[in-house]
Amino acid sequence: MSALTVTEAHVEYRSRGRGLVRAVDGVSLTVQAGQIVGLVGESGCGKSSLARAVVGMEPVTSGEIALDGRPVPPLGWRRRSGPDLRLQMVFQNPYASLNPRRSVGDQITDGLAVPREEQGREVARLLELVGLEPEAADRYPHQFSGGQRQRVAIARALAARPDVLVADEPVTALDASSQAQIVNLLTSLVDDLGLGMLFISHDLALVREIADVTAVMYLGRIVEHGPTEQVWSQPRHPYTRTLIEALPRISADAHLPVGLRGEVPDGAHVPTGCRFRTRCPAVMPICTTEPPVVVDGEHTVACWLADESTLRASATEGAR
Ligand SMILES: Nc1ncnc2c1ncn2[C@@H]1O[C@H](COP(=O)(O)OP(=O)(O)O)[C@@H](O)[C@H]1O
Ligand SMILES: [Mg+2]
Repeated sequence: MSALTVTEAHVEYRSRGRGLVRAVDGVSLTVQAGQIVGLVGESGCGKSSLARAVVGMEPVTSGEIALDGRPVPPLGWRRRSGPDLRLQMVFQNPYASLNPRRSVGDQITDGLAVPREEQGREVARLLELVGLEPEAADRYPHQFSGGQRQRVAIARALAARPDVLVADEPVTALDASSQAQIVNLLTSLVDDLGLGMLFISHDLALVREIADVTAVMYLGRIVEHGPTEQVWSQPRHPYTRTLIEALPRISADAHLPVGLRGEVPDGAHVPTGCRFRTRCPAVMPICTTEPPVVVDGEHTVACWLADESTLRASATEGAR
């Protein structure tokens, strides 16, 4: 059973001075029940825009988000809380995503889909599920540590009994020991509840550790996608290779990548041909004019290097 399918999703922003930014420019991916799909890529490549589109907080300009084959309408068209929210999001900053003026129990209750008389018991169950005492229900967000607050945010997301959690840099704002604990909590929820999880992070090492499938995003597109071990041991896209090579030299909280030349181009001015060509160490003439060939399959890549005949032609050019 496939839980979440994203098909050719586009998210665009129109802002004064900058023009049209194609933040998500044709992304397709699937998250199965009980599966962790890791989404990696530099800051500004569109990860959060995709996350918000998936949970309906950002409209897609085209494309489709579907659960078990049924299209998910944007948030504005459905209730903001309630049983129909099968896609839930966990944000980077649990302080900003929780209301400081309402008790933890009240905030979790908002998302519940159970009869009133069962709410107290259900809140206690959810708190326990995320490793907190039932008494936490009466307290307020500021009375918790960062890691505990993220547990509260996760309990609130689970209240609606979602099928898929979208976690956008869920541990980036936490200290190292809380990071490990929250990662453990999220992975055990996937195992125990059969949730699907789209796990977004700029931390490639962490994604390698927990994700079944890894998707690498560059300037609004997935450039490589496949089983994590394959992407890791046989990266096919020069961007992925550079990210992996840069890994031992950066600490977990540093921003990727170190080994790449130049800046990420502005999403309002995407390069012609292959969008990675301005920074690619292996750029060929065809990359300037033609969008990359997509070699599909379990391990997909969008790059002319993956096309044998182009490689041969380019080698002959070089020899002349
Ligand atoms: N609300 C917005 N309005 C206009 N531009 C935005 C908005 N949110 C993000 N962007 C732009 O979209 C691109 C992708 O941003 P984002 O999705 O936040 O990337 P990431 O999460 O990978 O850092 C960037 O160029 C960013 O400046
Ligand atoms: Mg982001």
